[in-house]
Amino acid sequence: MKSHEASGASAPRIRILFVCLGNYCRSPTAEGVFGQLVKAEAPDLPVDIDSAGTADYHVGSAPDPRSQRAARRRGIDLSGLRGRQISARDFADFDFILAMDRDNLRDLQAIAPEKSRARVQLFMDYAPETGRSEVPDPWNGDAADFEEVLDLTTAASRGLLAALLKRP
Ligand code: 4NP
Repeated sequence: MKSHEASGASAPRIRILFVCLGNYCRSPTAEGVFGQLVKAEAPDLPVDIDSAGTADYHVGSAPDPRSQRAARRRGIDLSGLRGRQISARDFADFDFILAMDRDNLRDLQAIAPEKSRARVQLFMDYAPETGRSEVPDPWNGDAADFEEVLDLTTAASRGLLAALLKRP
């Protein structure tokens, strides 16, 4: 998805990429949720955020209307985002590549170049208090599954922001 830039001065920017299968439901939601949180709570944090899919099913598409509706109810507008597929370059461009589930993580590890700048990990690593390690794919689910994506990505976004703010 198109990158969102938080305002910041000359400190080195932290670049974060959220990844799921389609870049259609979970990772655009994570991008929107984390972006909103940074804007509200750490507007001066020099962070660039983006999202991508391991697959190319939804390249160029706006996020799933069900994800857009669930996000809009929490004041988050995903309508301007457009799907894109991950590329080898992303491993050099980003500091963090955060996978929504273990399949995504495995697919990322399979295409990661030998020398990768990015730390590749599960997004839910940042919300251990939830007892959840994955953001489940809501594609075949109902409205409650899309709500759960919002809940889990919000919890992990809070943990990620706290971790970034603790960095020297
Ligand atoms: P996402 O969900 O990985 O959260 O974007 C999906 C979107 C599309 C498909 C599967 C999962 N699909 O099969 O097209």
